[in-house]
Amino acid sequence: MARKHEGHVVGIDLGTTYSCVAVWLEEKNRVEIIHNDEGNKITPSFVAFTDAQRLAVSVSNVYYISGVRVKCLCWSPCFIGHAKRLIGRKFSDPVVQKDILLWPFKVIAGVNDKPTISVKYKGQEKLLCAEEISSIVLTNMKEVAEAYLESPVKNAVVTVPAYFNDSQRKATMDAGAIAGLNVVRIINEPTAAAIAYGLDKRSNCDGERNIFVFDLGGGTFDVSLLTIKGDVFEVKATSGNTHLGGEDFDNRMLNYFVKEFNRKNKVDITRNPRALRRLRTSCEKAKRTLSFKLVTAIEIDYLYEDIDFSTSLTRVKFEEINMGLFNECMKIVESCFVDSKMDKGGVHDIVLVGGSSRIPKVQELLRNFFNGKELCKSINPDEAVAYGAAVQAAVLSEGIKDVPNLVLRDVTPLSLGISVHDDRIMNVVVPRNTSVPFKMTNQYLTSKDNQYSALIEVYEGERAKVSDNNMLGFFRLSGLPSVPRGHPLDVCFAIDENGILTVSAEERSTGSKNEITITNDKERLSRVEIEKLIQEAKEYHAEDEKFLRKAKVMNALDDCIYKLRNALKNKNVKLKLSFQKNKKINHAITVAKDLLHEKNQGNEVDVLEDHLKELESMLDHLVIKTV
Ligand SMILES: Nc1ncnc2c1ncn2[C@@H]1O[C@H](COP(=O)(O)OP(=O)(O)OP(=O)(O)O)[C@@H](O)[C@H]1O
Ligand SMILES: [Mg+2]
Repeated sequence: MARKHEGHVVGIDLGTTYSCVAVWLEEKNRVEIIHNDEGNKITPSFVAFTDAQRLAVSVSNVYYISGVRVKCLCWSPCFIGHAKRLIGRKFSDPVVQKDILLWPFKVIAGVNDKPTISVKYKGQEKLLCAEEISSIVLTNMKEVAEAYLESPVKNAVVTVPAYFNDSQRKATMDAGAIAGLNVVRIINEPTAAAIAYGLDKRSNCDGERNIFVFDLGGGTFDVSLLTIKGDVFEVKATSGNTHLGGEDFDNRMLNYFVKEFNRKNKVDITRNPRALRRLRTSCEKAKRTLSFKLVTAIEIDYLYEDIDFSTSLTRVKFEEINMGLFNECMKIVESCFVDSKMDKGGVHDIVLVGGSSRIPKVQELLRNFFNGKELCKSINPDEAVAYGAAVQAAVLSEGIKDVPNLVLRDVTPLSLGISVHDDRIMNVVVPRNTSVPFKMTNQYLTSKDNQYSALIEVYEGERAKVSDNNMLGFFRLSGLPSVPRGHPLDVCFAIDENGILTVSAEERSTGSKNEITITNDKERLSRVEIEKLIQEAKEYHAEDEKFLRKAKVMNALDDCIYKLRNALKNKNVKLKLSFQKNKKINHAITVAKDLLHEKNQGNEVDVLEDHLKELESMLDHLVIKTV
């Protein structure tokens, strides 16, 4: 029986491009998807850095990220996103190497080959890991929930792609810890979407239903085949690619137009981050438009120096540019059925999730795969994952009555095994798509006489050679008895409800148990590092508050200057105002304008507040004069 948690437990869909938070409302007996302070139910998973400030995007001054209007009070921010594409990966991973070429921020190799983002902050280089960026996004979602619930939120269920490996899951939990959140459960995104769908359909769902969840988001692609029977959601098979989604379609479009611009103007814009950013934004907007129109225009003024860019794109061309990736999606769909050994004809409903599942060609390919069966679009593809996470959160909350009594049975996305002897061959202990949680034990034999210890290396992956798989960690089981080779050892794999793995080994004959848990410390942040980051996040929070206070004063100053100038134009005022007074007010306006100037951003907030008070009293005086 899972432990229950006191206070609100929220569900967070931590997306590559957008995040969403939801909560179960006991009094209404349903899930509420929570709006952010902009009134949007989804929030970009981006963090803005300027020389002076670090903010999760959603405060003042308008910018556009992935087509969504976001506000940020800073002059020339550097937007950091895509943390989900880095989290739990190594810098030398070819996927990371390819991605960083297209990002407008710098990523370097950190300790233990950990990808590290370099930003300029307060005039100095600051290095951040993906967990820290995700933690800022999670903190933002936590605050969105707190503002709505009017109480602190400490616990959360966070979703991850079903195909995330062990280190990516653990790193996501670390991100939660840095944000001051107790991540009570990590659940798979398609499973969460299935819960949302299953609850929606519960009333007219008798017996067993097989549903296929197709989740194509901004950065990841996940499919899952589930069976819903009453309150039990059992995942039969899952497949996916943690690096396939809307951003890859945008990248292909970007490359296509970079070449077109080069051909037309003989200029290569790839070294100009601003131009690339603007072109990418237009590509993403065009892609969305092409989901409901057959052709769209792309117009960008001054894309590079004084050269404008004006072109058009048809849906057919968009599909041609991305056909390779769409086919990749379909191969993954097929592999899921091969693994599940279920016939695709046995699927009752095909559920679309994720923003990119709106692409007509993707829907067409999927429909054809299922021999023309209609796709289910009744659930909101942007909110379903957070919705399901909130239901799971309610199940894990103390004292919530009437919450659906659902039971989740998920599977492992990748095979798990160890390398035996010196042959470096993957010996699978847990085949992929095994139901979680589980505990499985295999017996191994020592390979040498009087072998004192055994090195156990743990891997995940589907390749025969361990060097082609992902090493999760290793440990040595020592203190073996002096006996000839062929002595048995037990190796046990256990996965808990979060999909987190513990491997232990035991030598029975001596009666002494040597149990070791793999913690993957090499890649994970240590407790001390997490504590340090939590502390830093708190300090940042105080700074953010200070910054917002300053932002408010600056806006008020700006407003006051505007009103004073208008008042000075008023005939009544002109007549009644002495030359000296007029001069004094104009001087105060000049000082205020100077205080607001970009180069004077270092001023303390008190200085601004004092000047604001002075201007306000002048304004009051002038207003009295006009009446
Ligand atoms: N109408 C549309 N047509 C095509 N693509 C769209 C449309 N609407 C949104 N998208 C794309 O969907 C993606 C965002 O989807 P979503 O919010 O589901 O992703 P995410 O949850 O951030 O990412 P992930 O689940 O992969 O981590 C973006 O790439 C966006 O461009
Ligand atoms: Mg998503």
